[in-house]
Amino acid sequence: MKEPLLHVQDLYAGYGDAAVLEGVNLDIHAGELVALVGSNGAGKTTLLRALSGLIPVSGGQIVFDGAPLAGRTSDQIFRAGLTQLPEGRQLFDRMTVQDNLLMGANLRRGKGAIAADLERVYTLLPRLRERRHQLAGTMSGGEQQMCAMTRALMAAPRLLMVDEMSLGLAPVVVLQLMETLQQVRDGGITVLLVEQDVHIALEHADRGYVLETGRIALEGQARALLDNPEIQKAYLGV
Ligand SMILES: Nc1ncnc2c1ncn2[C@@H]1O[C@H](COP(=O)(O)OP(=O)(O)OP(=O)(O)O)[C@@H](O)[C@H]1O
Ligand SMILES: [Mg+2]
Repeated sequence: MKEPLLHVQDLYAGYGDAAVLEGVNLDIHAGELVALVGSNGAGKTTLLRALSGLIPVSGGQIVFDGAPLAGRTSDQIFRAGLTQLPEGRQLFDRMTVQDNLLMGANLRRGKGAIAADLERVYTLLPRLRERRHQLAGTMSGGEQQMCAMTRALMAAPRLLMVDEMSLGLAPVVVLQLMETLQQVRDGGITVLLVEQDVHIALEHADRGYVLETGRIALEGQARALLDNPEIQKAYLGV
């Protein structure tokens, strides 16, 4: 079997004395869309922070594209192609949509093909093309989320990690964002999706992991997890 793009082994991390992650194991292969789900406070955001190098790791290891990340700064990790789209949108409100996207492109590894990439995302999301001269802060919540995702894509990541993209958005918008993530994956960018809405996440992902109090409790094909009675009872209200 091919080596995973991201290999997380027995990972421990937390805040000060408070341990949150207590031995997380997870693998993501290139070209997959993987969902990470779990209750509030399970440690999902903490895991993404540890992967991005935003909080220190106290045990275990993270290997990205064959190289251990231990000792690397968040900036170095980002430049290796591991990009996190944080909870909340963090756009530059007083800049236009297009300038926000170009800010993302400024961060990319290598400067090639920015115009072509911009064209590609505008084709993927025509709404953004229509709105490209609008100030980002005046876009609707769903449009802002699209803009934030696209800005992250403009940095040309290898693995895009998305945290709670659906927060506060109407179901139809969430559906559109999920379909966009599938297109992103089909375009060759691997995706790790953290999502509160377990049903919609597993319906769109290839595989899934369930995090419970700092450990992976279940993992498998997304379809199989959707059909799993334990998950239906705990997360799907069946
Ligand atoms: N900066 C912080 N300092 C101290 N404790 C924190 C900090 N951030 C998170 N925690 C704690 O770590 C635990 C895991 O939080 P985390 O944000 O990773 O959960 P989550 O799975 O993302 O939850 P949610 O679904 O609500 O976003 C929680 O108990 C939380 O209170
Ligand atoms: Mg969270």
